Amino acid sequence: MKFAFLACETTLPDMPMRRVDAFEFDLQFGGLRNALETRGHTLVALDWKNEIEAFKPFDAVVVGTPWNYQDFQSQFLDTLKAIEGLGVRLYNTAELIHWNINKSYLKDLAKLGAKTVPTRWVEKPTKHDVRAVFEEYDTSHIVLKRQVGAGSFGQKLFQRDETLPEGVLLDRPAMIQPFLPAIQTEGEYSFIFIDGAFSHALLKQPKSGDYRIQSSYGGTEKIVSPTQADIDVAQKNLSLIPYGMPLYARVDLLRGYEGELLLMELEMIEPYLYIKEGPHVSELYAEALIKRADS
Ligand SMILES: Nc1ncnc2c1ncn2[C@@H]1O[C@H](COP(=O)(O)OP(=O)(O)O)[C@@H](O)[C@H]1O
Ligand SMILES: [Mg+2]
Repeated sequence: MKFAFLACETTLPDMPMRRVDAFEFDLQFGGLRNALETRGHTLVALDWKNEIEAFKPFDAVVVGTPWNYQDFQSQFLDTLKAIEGLGVRLYNTAELIHWNINKSYLKDLAKLGAKTVPTRWVEKPTKHDVRAVFEEYDTSHIVLKRQVGAGSFGQKLFQRDETLPEGVLLDRPAMIQPFLPAIQTEGEYSFIFIDGAFSHALLKQPKSGDYRIQSSYGGTEKIVSPTQADIDVAQKNLSLIPYGMPLYARVDLLRGYEGELLLMELEMIEPYLYIKEGPHVSELYAEALIKRADS
């Protein structure tokens, strides 16, 4: 079978504006291509902004590293729908990705029984909303972040005794959460799943003095062996997804005040799968993809 891997001008090889972290494309695309080729199939990387006809020859398309989609969100979602409109299978599905693009999916999952980081959802956040969260939780800080966002971009941290600014604190729909100290004492976990099966887990820690685990803020990650109980928590979150099991997913969890693992994020659009830390993930991915495309 012929498969395509969606990428973009900042992650494809030999591009002048290639991102410094595009080595993640090399690992993820290279790993999957090798695993597919070993099994007699092909994989090519394509810019998601290609003419829609470019996707027609494929048995299935996977969303790989289209990391510039944040700036072209509706065009990106339209393209995914158009690929499916060609009769070509897409993983994850356009429906799932559409739901996953706004962190309000966490609200849906919480209603379905997921234990998520406590969140107040506000369209136009002001100091009154921030105060309300301080009143509700015994927390030294609160985090204000975008409902649609990534890489901690636009995120703000407020202290309890701080004089809060007047007016709207964020120019787009927001979420307000108590700051969970476990981020600094333990870190945030990422569990990687392929077709519902656990592959491997990472622990991500911020650099001393920060609370954001992203490498762009000095955060680091290491492979860990989670307990079965923790794997079960991650898996339970996946099983609650109302649009079927994703082909690939990264479940981000953080411990709450009682030591329970809370869902911070469930990334099913274009997660990096930490190939270096769990090289077998490419084999799992290839096998699950072939099975789905073959059915
Ligand atoms: N409630 C919170 N308590 C502690 N740290 C947080 C909290 N919310 C976010 N963070 C920190 O900020 C980072 C980014 O937040 P997250 O919700 O994962 O958004 P994204 O990764 O999409 O930017 C987290 O990985 C974590 O380091
Ligand atoms: Mg995150």
